[in-house]
Amino acid sequence: MAINSVGLQLGQGAGGGNKHLKSNLPSDAMDALSSISLRCIECSSLYPVLEGGQSVSSPRYRCTCGGVLDVEMKFHFPKTWQSQPARKESDMFFDFAAGNDEAPTAGALWRQLFDERASSPPIWPMGTDKYLLDCSGVWRYRELILPVPEQYMVSRPEGNTGLYPVGIENCSGGRIGHRQIGIYAGLERFFLKHEGENPTGSFKDRGMTVGVTMAHLLGAKAVACASTGNTSASLASYAAQAGMQGIVFLPAGNVAGGKLAQSLAYGADTIQIRGDFDDAMKLVEQVCDEEGIYLLNSLNPFRIEGQKAIGFEILQQLDWQAPDWLVLPAGNLGNTSAIGKAFRQAYQLSLISHMPRIAAIQATGANPFYQSFKKNFSEKVSVRANTIATAINIGNPVSFARAKQVIEESEGIVEEVTDEEILAAKAVIDRAGIGCEPASATTLAGVRKLVACGVMKRDERVVGVLTGNLLKDSKVGIPQQASGIVVEATLEAVRRVLAQ
Ligand code: F0G
Repeated sequence: MAINSVGLQLGQGAGGGNKHLKSNLPSDAMDALSSISLRCIECSSLYPVLEGGQSVSSPRYRCTCGGVLDVEMKFHFPKTWQSQPARKESDMFFDFAAGNDEAPTAGALWRQLFDERASSPPIWPMGTDKYLLDCSGVWRYRELILPVPEQYMVSRPEGNTGLYPVGIENCSGGRIGHRQIGIYAGLERFFLKHEGENPTGSFKDRGMTVGVTMAHLLGAKAVACASTGNTSASLASYAAQAGMQGIVFLPAGNVAGGKLAQSLAYGADTIQIRGDFDDAMKLVEQVCDEEGIYLLNSLNPFRIEGQKAIGFEILQQLDWQAPDWLVLPAGNLGNTSAIGKAFRQAYQLSLISHMPRIAAIQATGANPFYQSFKKNFSEKVSVRANTIATAINIGNPVSFARAKQVIEESEGIVEEVTDEEILAAKAVIDRAGIGCEPASATTLAGVRKLVACGVMKRDERVVGVLTGNLLKDSKVGIPQQASGIVVEATLEAVRRVLAQ
């Protein structure tokens, strides 16, 4: 399908500024963004978010050297908190940009703030968005994520996903089925964080609420991404909520049915590319640049800020007792970067007393990060990806440099698992009654492998992330023949089936 079939007129925007973005920002938006900078992961160059003053002609996603960017800002307590006399001025903000690695004494105050918000009623009264924001598992941590005026925030709300105790020891009697997962993993204290319980069924909503908030603040009319399916479903939903045009680029024939259905149903312009995700990614970056459409892949550093909330929420659910390990599937490496950054900041803010180790798991058919790790990151490997787990079918991950930093500083590890191991792990998660999409099962397959080879100890506290909902993909790894049993509507016929 040609690009102009979505109503864009190619060429018109090229070099000619930005017909999809407001040229003048309101002063409250300006104020909020003026304290935020973007630092290049590769060469450390620093950029203001608002280049060119009040008129944002084109948002910056990369450094002039080509490197990806990372958000830097000071963290401030809300003004109402600052006015309370018991709180010392020096405890009220922490400046990471100043390279200050002295642990501040503010950890207890931050914990108190977030715990107070988490205890607000889960159903908010109509029309009071403040409660909605406190109820969001992303905006509850807004001072650490994107401190912009609340009227710009575009939230469902999202987050507040389950953290299931599934280890051999931390599974109570009412969860006897869930214990099968702990037995399979070989872990006594094991938790699964189910990000498939987000509004559109994947962790992508955490980054998208922040990305679309930025788009709203910049006055964007259109937003776009390349996707293996979940980012596009999320973008389509949040763009529809905010009244923006959503445009998604998908690898044709390689997106699970549930995800494609979501993009179409939410009304995004859905462009299927004859190529893979890496081709779609290259194209969307060029098109957004040319047309001034706001890019919402995890190349956009504000998406990463939102996904940090997975890390903060896990820590809060564990009463701020950091686990020994955090394990997750790795594709484009945005999530590895985000959760690692959250843990680093939580440690620097004294929210937690130690950094968890991060284990990023790839499919053997899409393992560029694993191959680089095996070479001590001396080289950035890329591959032609081919795995049954379509969500992570990515050969040239955009957030490579960010994720490398996370693995190195957390003394983490990168592992690979075969498609057979992924499907076997998925069957265990599904039969336990929790369920997940194929890519998510990479987590359990990886844990099992790391425990078996002794890297992960049986008594260590481990959290694994399930990234997407079972309903996303009703084909891969689900026994299709089970739905094939059709019988006459008689007791006799049903008895015969049950006796088999
Ligand atoms: N699990 C699921 C279910 C995903 O959809 C993705 C990525 C990942 C894991 C990997 O996360 O890219 O941050 O390393 N899906 C993207 C998408 C690429 O377009 O939906 P990552």
